[in-house]
Amino acid sequence: MISDLWYKNAVVYCLSVESFMDSDGDGVGDFRGLTRRLDYLHGLGVTAIWLMPFQASPGRDDGYDVSNYYDVDPRYGTLGDFVEFTHGCKQRGMRVLIDLVVNHTSNEHPWFKSARADPKSPYRDWYVWSKKKPAGADQGMVFPGVQKTTWTYDEKAKAYYFHRFYDFQPDLNTSNPEVQAELLRIMGFWIQLGVCGFRMDAVPFVIAEKGPDVGPKPKSQFQMLRDFREFLQWRKGDSVILGEANILPKEALQYFGDDGDRIQMMFNFWANQRLFLALATGDARPLAKALEETKPGYPTAQWGLFLRNHDELDLGRLTDDERAAVFAAFGPDKEMQLYDRGIRRRLAPMLKADRRLMELAYSLMFTLPGTPVLRYGDEIGMGDDLSLPERHCARTPMQWSAEKNGGFSNGAKTYLPAISGGGFGFETVNVAQQRRDPNSFLNWIERVIRMRHEVPEIGWGEMSLIPVRDKAILALRYDWRGAAVVVIHNLDPEPREVAFRSGADGDGDVRLVDLLGGEHSDPGPDGRHRFAIEGYGYRWFRAGGLDEAMRRKDV
Ligand code: NOJ
Repeated sequence: MISDLWYKNAVVYCLSVESFMDSDGDGVGDFRGLTRRLDYLHGLGVTAIWLMPFQASPGRDDGYDVSNYYDVDPRYGTLGDFVEFTHGCKQRGMRVLIDLVVNHTSNEHPWFKSARADPKSPYRDWYVWSKKKPAGADQGMVFPGVQKTTWTYDEKAKAYYFHRFYDFQPDLNTSNPEVQAELLRIMGFWIQLGVCGFRMDAVPFVIAEKGPDVGPKPKSQFQMLRDFREFLQWRKGDSVILGEANILPKEALQYFGDDGDRIQMMFNFWANQRLFLALATGDARPLAKALEETKPGYPTAQWGLFLRNHDELDLGRLTDDERAAVFAAFGPDKEMQLYDRGIRRRLAPMLKADRRLMELAYSLMFTLPGTPVLRYGDEIGMGDDLSLPERHCARTPMQWSAEKNGGFSNGAKTYLPAISGGGFGFETVNVAQQRRDPNSFLNWIERVIRMRHEVPEIGWGEMSLIPVRDKAILALRYDWRGAAVVVIHNLDPEPREVAFRSGADGDGDVRLVDLLGGEHSDPGPDGRHRFAIEGYGYRWFRAGGLDEAMRRKDV
């Protein structure tokens, strides 16, 4: 299937309209505020913005409970404001991805209201019902500890309805062809308004068979992913789907499609969990193994790489011991943990604002195989507010300046209070202050993003692990059309001596040109590179040849 591969070297920035910038003083971010901040994002080097849900919603799961797919929630503005926003992005060469939340609707969606009110409603079969309470009703909850069941009795409908998530999020019966046709209409609508694709929420659940007789391991209907992809690309050739699917590596190819004909991108949750394990233990091997295990298997397939997102850091796919090690390092208190599987903190407080560790973590994110996805506020090292419930602790207003509400809003009250006081308050951690300081984290991130744009090998190329003896060292090489880069990371707080051959097959060692500093490396008489790398250090090297690769240009 033909497509434009822009996403292979994009830098994605994720934000919710609610928390970014309030233009009218009502305490809630809006599209007009966001549009005024586009130059900031463009200046940072962002090439695509992922917007979290902004459609009309009762807002009981921060918009992941949609009550009208075809409108902007009035708190954020109007469809007109949305189009102004996408236009502003286009002018600056930034693409827009939006969340597509179609596993479920809000229980206040007119479809659900009609479905529950009347068994003959045309929408009855848009949801998943059972006369009796199904056997597995107390299993498969996504939010254990908060969510009690996956089947809830509805008095009006006189039946149980299925909900994989909270009870106010009834699952759509996605096997129903009418529902499928509606999903395409929703995509077509937003594509027409200027978006370039979708972050598809809860993909494994969207495509799962649903119903009272379906067991704990429902079959997946992968064909749906091909249908979505095909529809999108017929409408707009460069549009993509970035899937949220916390799956096993061996399942990945089924999502990407073994002809590369299903979804183009997925978040690499597998590597994410092992990245934090590596940071917690100083041992790069689990991460190296995860990278081998998740080689995409198809050239147009691409991972989205992230450190933290708006949910908890999900460690559910580590062993108990591994998870305990990450908890001990980054979220030791019960109040920092969530749903028995994760850590709900922001990145900077997890890493105790240790600049070396933060740089290491981001350097990894920008150089592992895939497309980096930053979360708003992480570029200035924003903190969290653990007094807020569940995942809200890491969804506080963007900290623009030391002014009232962190410069986010001049309203009397904001949707959540801006973080104030302490080491992470807006008085000290804010964009205005970091802009002025050449050594700030913000300016460091900007430089690293600039360099990431200049090493297209990472997005395009073939990744290989360079053998090293030291378990603290992760050494990667990317080859693309005769061009190559080598990236070295030291996961240990102490300095190390590294020694390696940079050639993919051990031959052809050349000078390694240091891209972020001036410490180039020449191979010794035995063909090996040898140098000291500081604790938590990182080096990005070019191993020759980008000009030649760029001459054969279609990037
Ligand atoms: C995944 C989203 O990331 C999360 O925030 C949301 O609660 C669930 N899906 C349900 O939509």
